[in-house]
Amino acid sequence: MKRELSELEIKIKELKKKRNAVILAHNYQLPEVQDVADYCGDSLELSRIAATTSAKVIVFCGVHFMAETASILSPDKLVIMPDIHAGCPMANMINAEQLKKLKVEHPKAVVVGYVNTSAEVKAELDYCCTSTNAIAVVNALKDCEEIIFVPDKYLADYVSKNTGRKLISWNGLCPTHIKILPEDIKRERKFHPFAKVIVHPECLPAVVSMADAVLSTSQMSKYAKETEAKEMIIGTEVGLIYKLKKDNPAKEFYPASERAVCPNMKRTTQEKILWALEELKEEVRVSDEIRQRARKAIDRMLEIC
Ligand code: 13P
Ligand code: SF4
Repeated sequence: MKRELSELEIKIKELKKKRNAVILAHNYQLPEVQDVADYCGDSLELSRIAATTSAKVIVFCGVHFMAETASILSPDKLVIMPDIHAGCPMANMINAEQLKKLKVEHPKAVVVGYVNTSAEVKAELDYCCTSTNAIAVVNALKDCEEIIFVPDKYLADYVSKNTGRKLISWNGLCPTHIKILPEDIKRERKFHPFAKVIVHPECLPAVVSMADAVLSTSQMSKYAKETEAKEMIIGTEVGLIYKLKKDNPAKEFYPASERAVCPNMKRTTQEKILWALEELKEEVRVSDEIRQRARKAIDRMLEIC
């Protein structure tokens, strides 16, 4: 049954049309934000939509690096964030100077970087990757001797174990995903013995090793639809559960830990979306020089998968 729109939601819908805007929301956004979005998805899905949309304005409800990626892929569009202060602590754990130094220490290495990086860092990469395609990207680098993989040391560990490649990693991590502990998985399994455990590769290796499946958020959505299991324990940021429940009303989803909340993902609200559409602010734009170099790493990723 279709839900009645609130006054605020009607205003957002009208203004969105007037501005020729599209609202993109990451899977971790608040339910009220997911409800007014044209598309919800993971970073890879949202990047693809940003690259192909015919809208003139992209309202990006997520964190800063995601809006930057949209701007890199769609430089002719106005990309705005309803809350410009929504950053990703993991992306801030490495800057371009630090990566340049690492490259000097390993001059032969091919450089792979998680999409959770700033545009300046992306400009220093050979390949970008997301949690959906990180294994495929590293598997495609058959002939290179050394691979640098930044910034998430736990994603690097997971990719290394699943490709058999030794990776030169960075000491970055996601402060939200590391809140999910092995004892959380043990406890939830005891409460829900028939549930499948699915976790994000940003989780601690001890948590990853306990899971039935290790998946990005879009892969989790697909898994939830396709599996015969009726119950799932979800080891990622809690925001995804709203979407999983909406898409699969006959199934049950339990957060592995209620503490896995990304505060930056919760900064965006419906009020801020309306304000962003009214003011056409805050713009996220990447300089041409950085954009062109960063784009190469993203395009190389999109060519692989
Ligand atoms: P996804 O690529 O799975 O959307 O993950 C992005 C992210 O920030 C996870 O914490
Ligand atoms: Fe960054 Fe972690 Fe938040 Fe994802 S969940 S945006 S990696 S801090």
